[in-house]
Amino acid sequence: EPFTITLRDGTVVPVAADTTALAALRRAGVLLMASCENGVCGTCECGILEGQPLHRDAVLSKEARTHRFIPCISRATGVLRLDL
Ligand code: FES
Repeated sequence: EPFTITLRDGTVVPVAADTTALAALRRAGVLLMASCENGVCGTCECGILEGQPLHRDAVLSKEARTHRFIPCISRATGVLRLDL
């Protein structure tokens, strides 16, 4: 499913159903480190300010899932505001 990311500066980054949040963010000019691009290394981890993530990673702890996001593999419902 498509969803939308918004950045701290108000930039709106649409994420199509067939692309990752990481790819969409990079296309929008956000410089993000990444390594595995498969949700296991944690390199791409970033912070959530607001929204409903759909976590698909194998790296975040249950506690971290409340406020952290793995954009190479995870998705969201609706609008996800990231600390980027
Ligand atoms: Fe490894 Fe995202 S690049 S978890």
